[in-house]
Amino acid sequence: MSEFEQYLATCLDDVTPSRVKDAMQYSLMAKGKRVRPNILFATLEAYGLHKELGYACASAIEMIHTYSLIHDDLPAMDDDTLRRGMPTCHVQFDEATAILAGDALLTQAFIEASKTSDNANINQKVIAYLAKYAGADGMILGQIRDILGEHKQLSLEELQQIHIYKTGKLLTLPFICSAIISQHEEDIEQWIKIGIYLGLSFQIQDDILDETSTVEELGKNIHSDIRNEKTTYVTLLGIDGAKQEAKRYYEEAIALLKTMHLHTKPIEDYMYSLIQRKK
Ligand code: IPE
Ligand code: IPE
Ligand code: MG
Ligand code: MG
Ligand code: MG
Repeated sequence: MSEFEQYLATCLDDVTPSRVKDAMQYSLMAKGKRVRPNILFATLEAYGLHKELGYACASAIEMIHTYSLIHDDLPAMDDDTLRRGMPTCHVQFDEATAILAGDALLTQAFIEASKTSDNANINQKVIAYLAKYAGADGMILGQIRDILGEHKQLSLEELQQIHIYKTGKLLTLPFICSAIISQHEEDIEQWIKIGIYLGLSFQIQDDILDETSTVEELGKNIHSDIRNEKTTYVTLLGIDGAKQEAKRYYEEAIALLKTMHLHTKPIEDYMYSLIQRKK
């Protein structure tokens, strides 16, 4: 287990044992790619800071992300049965427990976020960004538009907005938080642009993998989007057109990174691994 995985595993230590705690642990410690923590660590490195300084903040973001997955899989939403190679939370436990485990991970994330730094000013800013980017002006807005868009033909512009919100917002958080932790808030505006491009590229690839991958490789249900009659980059542009768009946005993100005058090579390498990903 990596040092960060070990840290993450301790985040729920103080939570009272219950069926909800079991479900929180089950979903959080399942084998996620830890994309958002890895971005946070690579961005801290760009600022010359050790990744350990980001463990609490990265755990908070990973908890919010895990909660979003638990709720995204519920019967009322995408109704999926497999996640991170294991039965989804509501299948393994039950629907009520899964809803509460999601709620509790979201809430616990703010306890963890408050441990980001010894500097209360930094913690306050991190907490405010986490709330804004996860909430009704962030990921949640993307999720409601995604659900309301089912059984309809959306335009490319509408779909792009959904992807920016449902996926781009949580993927932008680690960049912003790194700038706050390293006290370089003047960079936040540029990180937001990079996060939007990365989010689009990442979610377009998720749309592609939903069509082209296997359950074994992906560790989640395939053809979930077709079953739910979602508009995706694949339904609008075809597989090749979607791949081109994912690559285009990835290249936009890299081009912006190169303007930052920081040691961005680790971020570039990580983004390259994401554009190549098979799951
Ligand atoms: C899945 O996110 C949901 C999307 C935003 C596409 P990830 O692909 O990062 O899922 P895990 O964390 O590896 O399970
Ligand atoms: C999910 O998008 C975005 C979230 C906020 C969880 P998807 O519904 O496409 O993600 P997967 O494919 O279920 O992981
Ligand atoms: Mg969804
Ligand atoms: Mg889904
Ligand atoms: Mg998907």
